[in-house]
Formats: sequence, structure tokens, C-alpha cells
Amino acid sequence: MIRLADAEATEAFGAALAGALRPGDVIALYGALGAGKTTLARGLLRGLGHDGEVASPTFPIVQAYAPPDTRIPLWHVDLYRIEDPAELEEIGLDEAREAAAMVIEWPERLPLLWPETLRLTLGVEPGGARALTALVPPAWGERWPPR
Ligand SMILES: Nc1ncnc2c1ncn2[C@@H]1O[C@H](COP(=O)(O)OP(=O)(O)O)[C@@H](O)[C@H]1O
Ligand SMILES: [Mg+2]
Repeated sequence: MIRLADAEATEAFGAALAGALRPGDVIALYGALGAGKTTLARGLLRGLGHDGEVASPTFPIVQAYAPPDTRIPLWHVDLYRIEDPAELEEIGLDEAREAAAMVIEWPERLPLLWPETLRLTLGVEPGGARALTALVPPAWGERWPPR
């Protein structure tokens, strides 16, 4: 478990993770509304070099970032509003993964996840800090924990 004392710590964790990110990587972010998923995704984008706004991609469902704005292409996906699994096919996550990395909020909405997905869960502690737990697949073994 990694304890994230405040929003800055969540963002810094995301930025550290960005240093290890490669095209084809998928990061699934679990946690309730307000847990800090978008904050972590913002840190990832900062770590990839993006210095503009990071909009919450709830609508549209995908915000795509690409060089020269970011070191590698990253799709920031938020599936909160997905109701019909057919909508998922239109988004084309499988095709995107060939060239881009992806960070996905509300991955529970997907019928299945790619086996090499890094799964992170943010929980809210009684004092308000966040507790991050990880399911680390083999592809991330030597890249975990991020520094
Ligand atoms: N480690 C943390 N400790 C306290 N507050 C945090 C932490 N990380 C994020 N937050 C705050 O939680 C709130 C919700 O964050 P957000 O990233 O929008 O959540 P989500 O995308 O999971 O709904 C924001 O106000 C953010 O600043
Ligand atoms: Mg969010």
C-alpha cells in the first residue's frame, strides 16, 4: 500500500509513473467518485510533458494526447457514462493500444481487461488521505514501484 497524503502526492505519484510508461501500457484506475483518479491521470500527463489543462474526459469519453505535447501518445479514458457496451467498440480502445498508452477511469465498465493491465485502486482513508493499492502484472515487474 502506498499512502498519498494530499492531492499533490497523488499527482507526484502519477508523474513518477509517467517516467516508466511505454506505448501499449494500460493503467486501470479504480476508486469511488472523488477518490483521486483524475488527479493521478493529471500527474501522468504532467510527467509526460503536458502543461496545459487536463479536462475530465467524462464527455467526451476520451481525451487523446500526443507528441510533441507529450513524450508518448496517451489516451485518457473515463467510462463513467458508458451504458451500452456497444459504445465501447466505437471508441476503439484495442486499436488505440497499438500506438498509445491508456489510462482508464471506471475500468469496471469494460467486459474484460487486457492481461498486462496495471490495476491501481484509490481508497479514501478516515483522515482524507488516499491509500493506493496495486495489482502489478509481469510487464510492470521491474518498473514497480515507480521512483
Ligand atoms: N491523496 C489525496 N489526498 C486528499 N485529497 C486528494 C488526494 N488525491 C486527490 N485528492 C482530491 O480529491 C478530489 C477528487 O479528485 P478526482 O481526481 O477528481 O477524483 P476522481 O477522478 O476519482 O473522481 C480532488 O479535490 C482532489 O484534489
Ligand atoms: Mg475522474
